[in-house]
Amino acid sequence: DAELYRGWGGELVASCYDEGTGAFMFICVHSTVRGPAAGGIRLKAYDSPGDGLRDGMRLSRAMSLKMAICGAPLGGGKAVIALDSARGDVSTGQRGPLLERFAALLASLKGTYYGAPDMNTGPADMDFIHARSPYVFCRTEERGGSGSTTQHTALGVFCSILASAEFAFGSRSLAGKSVVVQGVGEVGAALVGRLVRAGARVTISDVAEDRVAKLAAEFGVASVAPEAAAATDCDIFAPCATGGVLNARSIPELRCAVVAGAANNQLATPEDDARLHERGILYAPDFVASAGGVLHGVGLELWRWSEAQVDRAVEQLGDTLLEVFAKARAERIGTHAAAEKLARAKLAVPRA
Ligand code: PHE
Repeated sequence: DAELYRGWGGELVASCYDEGTGAFMFICVHSTVRGPAAGGIRLKAYDSPGDGLRDGMRLSRAMSLKMAICGAPLGGGKAVIALDSARGDVSTGQRGPLLERFAALLASLKGTYYGAPDMNTGPADMDFIHARSPYVFCRTEERGGSGSTTQHTALGVFCSILASAEFAFGSRSLAGKSVVVQGVGEVGAALVGRLVRAGARVTISDVAEDRVAKLAAEFGVASVAPEAAAATDCDIFAPCATGGVLNARSIPELRCAVVAGAANNQLATPEDDARLHERGILYAPDFVASAGGVLHGVGLELWRWSEAQVDRAVEQLGDTLLEVFAKARAERIGTHAAAEKLARAKLAVPRA
């Protein structure tokens, strides 16, 4: 689809097809202005290869903003391994050959793009890929990598919620505040733990019922059906699943004061930023709120930071958000637009 490329503004897409699984793979390099492109390797089923490509391209653009806003010497990229939704999940035996095929595609780019964990991929997969093509972040600690990004991503989202609460409610205290966490995968689940310890009243939802049951048992939190999550009455809505949850249909139904979560590409279209703004809902731009994972990988592996230094940088995402909120208020624009302005200023300057 030509329109896909026209509106993207990125540099290149490398792609291939895996006979064995019927999966298409796309490595989308959005920008190398600040350095080699980097971003997660997402393993997900799509209804069509085009859907996977579209997702990868959009996610790679968001990564350029994420890298810029957190000062990483990297550009934006994303890899999507698009499984055929008609064929269902890959078996354990198919995963190796599939990732081998991916590693070959990655190697062909010779360092133009670096991969990292994302939805359905983790440090063990990074070890496997690295053995064949060394362009990845976040291998296991045993293999000399920085390991899982989960805890730092969740910390960044938690600090984003605190900053949003400060701006919206005048207090960082979450005691008694109601929070709906949509999607309790690794990051969502880690976030729930932090919220519960901070005294928030948490409600969770997920398409995977076993995950909901496990967390409900562990923390005694309430749950709501996935399709009802966005319209649930609460103080803070935290999308931590897939993208596009904030759209023309869902925004009028929101019954929250704040949206702050870990999901990438929460806005379905750029206009949704204005829709939230008009409704008076404070939105923590996703590429800021979810930047903790990048700070983990880049901080520990490129900047040789200590854990404590990474923690501090991740906590500072909250300060960045307060700057974003103030700019949005002063310029009477949406918060995503304000954050994008701040990020673009850094994108224009190579290796700021
Ligand atoms: N999955 C991470 C994200 O979406 C990507 C990432 C992590 C990139 C760590 C580099 C280092 O932000």
